[in-house]
Amino acid sequence: MSEEDKVIDTILSNNGEDLHSQTPAKAVPLGQYVPTETPQLPPRGDQPIENRTKVTILTLKNHKKKGIKTVLCTAYDYPQALLADRAGVDAILVGDSLGMTTLGYKTTIPVTMDDMISHTKAVWRANQTAFLIGDMPFMSYQESNELAVRNAGKFITAGADCVKIEGAMIDRVKAISSSGIITMSHLGLTPHTRAKLGGYRVQGKTKESADIILDQALRLQDAGCSFLLLEAMPRESAKYIAEQLEIPIYGIGAGDQVDGQLVIQHDLIGMFFEFKSKFVKRYCEAGALIEKSLKDYAAEVRAGQFPTAEQFYEIKDEELDKLVSDDRWKYNTPDNVKSHTF
Ligand code: KIV
Repeated sequence: MSEEDKVIDTILSNNGEDLHSQTPAKAVPLGQYVPTETPQLPPRGDQPIENRTKVTILTLKNHKKKGIKTVLCTAYDYPQALLADRAGVDAILVGDSLGMTTLGYKTTIPVTMDDMISHTKAVWRANQTAFLIGDMPFMSYQESNELAVRNAGKFITAGADCVKIEGAMIDRVKAISSSGIITMSHLGLTPHTRAKLGGYRVQGKTKESADIILDQALRLQDAGCSFLLLEAMPRESAKYIAEQLEIPIYGIGAGDQVDGQLVIQHDLIGMFFEFKSKFVKRYCEAGALIEKSLKDYAAEVRAGQFPTAEQFYEIKDEELDKLVSDDRWKYNTPDNVKSHTF
């Protein structure tokens, strides 16, 4: 356990925040699918936002201690972050997946620090209470500890509470976390190294590969990483790893036996159109709704049905009189003008 985690543990055992009072979720036998009982979600989304406290590292560690599932989703801009925060998610990731969902790239590789910082700032401006995680893009941390710390610092300056880096980057995690920045590591399917993985492939499908990920996870925890995200692996392998670690373990496509779930907001609301991974559940079809709304709008404009009086701004009668008495006014009879409903 890192020094930072020891301090946090002491805080939690002495006077830890007790924001939520759920009963811990029941353990599920390894290798057997037993649907988890519908957990009592922390009622953050039910409370007016002004009554909520900001989620901190202490809140999230406390969730793990009490068996409360943590809810994470991505947001890349102001409205998405506003809605996620209002809905009461515990943590928002400004993921470099924005390269695919928002910037139209085929992968996350072309995403730059400038892209990430600009989007992190937009999310920060909307977010009041969720824990904010900035995703370090490709080549912003691989080259050296110095570069990694400098770029991690830019995320913190932009408003993030924590940075996420992919892979078993032990030295980088050590350097970033010892500079006082909270770090989340990301193992399993790591999109920055997808070429080395042979593509977007499910990881940890054998005992041997689960052991490699477990070993990496333990070393990252020792290096000072505060959270771990596991992507695309069987739930049994994720559980096997999660049970050996003290830090909170979150999953995206890693089953239900972890401490919390991350989803990409665009997947959840039906706004990503290229493909749908097996682990994605759509909660609505916002894309279809928007497309239909745009079609309706286009049809109304073409039919002269939009805009109507409801959307017009008013002009005072005396100003209107002046306008219509000007020779440049094309409809030069006041009656003609008045017959329009202003
Ligand atoms: O960029 C992102 O949103 C991510 C998730 C896919 C884990 O890293």
